[in-house]
Amino acid sequence: MEYLSMLPGPTNVPNRVMRAMLAPIINHRSDDFVKLYTDVVEKTQKVFQTQNDIVALSASGTGAVEASVVNLVKKDDKIIIPVNGEFSSRLSQLIEGQGANVIRLASPPGQNATFDQIKEAFDNNKDVKAFYVVHNETSTGTMVNYLDKVSDLTSRNDTFYVVDSVSLLGAVELPVDKWNIDVCLTGSQKALAAPPGISPISVSAKAKKYMIENPPSTMYFNLARYFQYYEESKHTPFTPALPLLYAYREALTILLEEGLQNVYKRHKICSDALYSGLSAIGLTPYVTKEEDRSITIVALNYLDGLEDKIFRNTLANKFKVLVAGGFGDLKGKVFRVGCMGEVSPYHVMRTISAISSTLAMMGYDTDAQAGLKTAEEKLKAL
Ligand SMILES: Cc1ncc(COP(=O)(O)O)c(C=O)c1O
Repeated sequence: MEYLSMLPGPTNVPNRVMRAMLAPIINHRSDDFVKLYTDVVEKTQKVFQTQNDIVALSASGTGAVEASVVNLVKKDDKIIIPVNGEFSSRLSQLIEGQGANVIRLASPPGQNATFDQIKEAFDNNKDVKAFYVVHNETSTGTMVNYLDKVSDLTSRNDTFYVVDSVSLLGAVELPVDKWNIDVCLTGSQKALAAPPGISPISVSAKAKKYMIENPPSTMYFNLARYFQYYEESKHTPFTPALPLLYAYREALTILLEEGLQNVYKRHKICSDALYSGLSAIGLTPYVTKEEDRSITIVALNYLDGLEDKIFRNTLANKFKVLVAGGFGDLKGKVFRVGCMGEVSPYHVMRTISAISSTLAMMGYDTDAQAGLKTAEEKLKAL
């Protein structure tokens, strides 16, 4: 029996997407490839809601994250970044590695910097070159809800606006052009429900000009090369992961067939059902403020004495449901349920039922019926 992946990525991949990978290998310097890659670019633009240039890197999400840094950040540049978990911390280190002057807006794990804190940092640093933000802190399950307002600050200070939306893009509204985001990136294996290995990145005209005029010393992640190849021949500079591009294109096609607004609604309702259903069986969300809670990563506190490895192994081996543990300091304290991609009432109900049964097997008193009933009620909105 196949696992149900309720991980924060990689997520379940529809059979249609898996089958797309069986397409024959083609010459990546041919018209066949031009057809494939231009379709990938156009569909990515629709999902990102942008007219900006798109590069679909053959790399995991970190590839696009790294590209966003090495192509924009130089020594002594002033960069503002909120930091509240593993991925924002990693990103800040990467930026620092370029020799930049990093202004970290730190908040405790499970909480976001407020918009007022961001505004204050912009007020105090008129010369800030770029604002980097992790849209959804996957390690703790927090999500930033004020990205639309940030563009007032980035426009005012003439600052590049960079969004790492690896674990969120495709699950919530993120109109790149409307919100004036210069660089936006994600990974194929999260809300887009494709296999891991493609990381799309969008680049505004202003950021593109800067990148072309100030190329990095790297080769693979030098985005100027990708722009040049695309303009000249609609090719990529290096051999792309062809089967993954086929799969990624199919995943985008499915998403666009469903319609972006329907996809966002499905994610929101499934997420509400998971939070409330799992709360009804006796668990508590790790993120206390509701407005900070991620739609795609449902992080829950472990009950007293509940051993992480045994819990997750039982869930995986007996019920074939995969969830993730905590990161760093949260190891053994929380577990994380992914709610993205294909997620549907089936995934929600099976997950709540499996978690409840696992807890019961481990000697905890849980009310499975209450959990399922509560979730069922929320799912009626779909
Ligand atoms: C917010 C965020 N950024 C970056 C990454 C890195 O992506 P990958 O593991 O695909 O390299 C992740 C992975 O989960 C993430 O959640």
